[in-house]
Amino acid sequence: MRESTTLTIPRVGDIPRHIAVIMDGNGRWARVRGLPRMEGHRQGVEAVRRIVAACARKGVAFLTLFAFSSENWRRPPEEVQFLLGLFRWLLQREVEELQRNEVRLRVIGDRGGLGEDLAILVETAERQTAQGGRLTLTVAVNYGGRWDILQAVNRCLQDHPELAGRLSERDLWPYLALGDAPEPDLFIRTGGEQRISNFLIWQLAYTELFFTPRLWPDFDEAALDEALAWYRSRERRFGRTSEQVHQERSERVAFRDNEREGEL
Ligand code: IPE
Ligand code: IPE
Ligand code: MG
Repeated sequence: MRESTTLTIPRVGDIPRHIAVIMDGNGRWARVRGLPRMEGHRQGVEAVRRIVAACARKGVAFLTLFAFSSENWRRPPEEVQFLLGLFRWLLQREVEELQRNEVRLRVIGDRGGLGEDLAILVETAERQTAQGGRLTLTVAVNYGGRWDILQAVNRCLQDHPELAGRLSERDLWPYLALGDAPEPDLFIRTGGEQRISNFLIWQLAYTELFFTPRLWPDFDEAALDEALAWYRSRERRFGRTSEQVHQERSERVAFRDNEREGEL
């Protein structure tokens, strides 16, 4: 566990260390153009490329994208097949580009449900990009927040049966899907809906939530900048009062000034 917003108060910077995104609105983007939904998903991939590059450039360390939820199996079988096929194609094609850009790829979700060949492709891509130190790109596929919490509890108690009845947050963290990442500072959902749709329900406990009507295939760097400007305008209190936040900030500035004077 790197840090928990409910156990400690994190340092807040201007650029979020971790951004989590629900990429929504592909189908509507296609519908308003009289195109099949699949075309919306194809264009959505272009938006993913843009946002990965922009986050790497801006110094965001972790980007987590919701690509296929545990509930998306309820869609028509052709669409499910198309989405998984698109994912498979990207895993085969994009690894070199990710390596070139020093991006580490990780996939979270229930791999058991993906089929063996896709699970092997995922493992290979993760291994090949493991050295990427610039940005960790996590793609959530067959992921559900409730599944995540349950799998973490079950695995933790399997490893540590003695913890039954006194399990703590600290015990559980390493077993959660993003156990070695900081919690998301900023959450973005495109497509106009204002809901979490069973995404990172544990990890979003203190995340700033940004909703935009823009459809995912239209999301670009300017739209990301808009979300980042909104993020900078938030006061992240983590349970404290506004006065306490201001005081902490001025103490930090005073401390930094003293240190600088000492150096001169
Ligand atoms: C998001 O776009 C992509 C996935 C859920 C895979 P949608 O396909 O949900 O697009 P809308 O919400 O129908 O417009
Ligand atoms: C959430 O989008 C899941 C992904 C983006 C992968 P949905 O379009 O499936 O969400 P709901 O069902 O409208 O809440
Ligand atoms: Mg949708």
